[in-house]
Amino acid sequence: MKRSIKLKKLLDNYQQGWSLEQPFYLDNDVFNAELDAIWKKYWLFAGTIADIPKPGDYFTYKVHNDSIIIIRGNKGEVFAHYNTCRHRGSLICLEEKGRAPKLVCPYHQWVYDKDGSLVNARLMPDDFDKSEHGLHPVKVEVTGGFIFISLSDNPPDFRKVADDYFPFLAPYKLENAKVAFKKSYELRTNWKLVAENFRECYHCGPAHPEYCSAVIGANMKESAAEVLQERKVEWERSGLAVNNVEFENDSFHFAIRYPLRPGVLSYSTDGTAVAIPMGDHKDYNAGVLGLVVLPNFWMDAVSDYMWTMRVTPMGPSKTMIDLAWLVDKNAIEGEHYTLEHLTEFWKITGEQDWKLCENNFAGIESSRYQPGPYAPIEIDVVKFVDWYLNRMRDGVLEAASAS
Ligand code: FES
Ligand SMILES: [Fe+2]
Repeated sequence: MKRSIKLKKLLDNYQQGWSLEQPFYLDNDVFNAELDAIWKKYWLFAGTIADIPKPGDYFTYKVHNDSIIIIRGNKGEVFAHYNTCRHRGSLICLEEKGRAPKLVCPYHQWVYDKDGSLVNARLMPDDFDKSEHGLHPVKVEVTGGFIFISLSDNPPDFRKVADDYFPFLAPYKLENAKVAFKKSYELRTNWKLVAENFRECYHCGPAHPEYCSAVIGANMKESAAEVLQERKVEWERSGLAVNNVEFENDSFHFAIRYPLRPGVLSYSTDGTAVAIPMGDHKDYNAGVLGLVVLPNFWMDAVSDYMWTMRVTPMGPSKTMIDLAWLVDKNAIEGEHYTLEHLTEFWKITGEQDWKLCENNFAGIESSRYQPGPYAPIEIDVVKFVDWYLNRMRDGVLEAASAS
């Protein structure tokens, strides 16, 4: 069946409030349609300015077939380019990260500046026009130190994300932060199952004892309302942003501040602080700031560290998870923090989730899998699925009008 007809039928058959049919998780044609409708259209979290603090620092990010170079310019700007040489197409940066005053293609040594312009192409004829052969640019937006890229020439408007996030992120002062630790996981699951998992806490009580001991209400057995009310007053008094941002009308970003359990200072397994407060924070009372930018970015920040999660699909059944832990630049390892204390909370919690997401996928592969109903407390999963389906519907319409 033609890809678009198959997809349209699946979309038309969707039963509101229920999990998706099997092909949405397993089928290659659906996956390819997702690449066009979502992954090559929307804004993707690439990393933070703390990954590339100095001019010439760069990292690469592979999204499907496109490797992207993200590099810091001489004035602190952030540039993003397709990692394909304008001579005969070789990859230019072969490493995941590095520092380079200029980008030199390893094949025949064409040389590009940080802004992507071609500055030297040896042995080319005198009339060769270098200005016509700069690296293909990738759209880039930096907000509060977070770097987002889009592979579309015409991506959705990012201004609202930047405006909404600025007051939340400013106190963290990412320009004065450092990446303390990174860890990646390759999961045998579909990317949407990770997204769904991170949009509900129905599973938190049984699955995440450490998380529930840090976050009041996460176990769904107790109310956080009273503590939240008290904390909100304190947050406002100390100038912290409290205007949560909900997903609505097909928007793709979300922000929430919520309290830790009274007496808990940080996301740590013993409830104690793990580092010095970040940026402008003076104490450990900021609670948790949670951000989501669909389709690939999750972040949780407490007063003393920030944890970022980048999700990248490698195929219907393979998903990369890249985690980073950021602390204040003045935090000294061994004196103000240890890597074990800093990272164990999210390593434990994340690894509990990876298992759930892999088990979920393996069960969906069963010949007897059929969609099931979401519980009322999974309302945010329903919102994610609706957002996803609407993007796919738009994609089908666009494909039809282009053919
Ligand atoms: S392919 Fe890059 S210089 Fe030839
Ligand atoms: Fe979880």
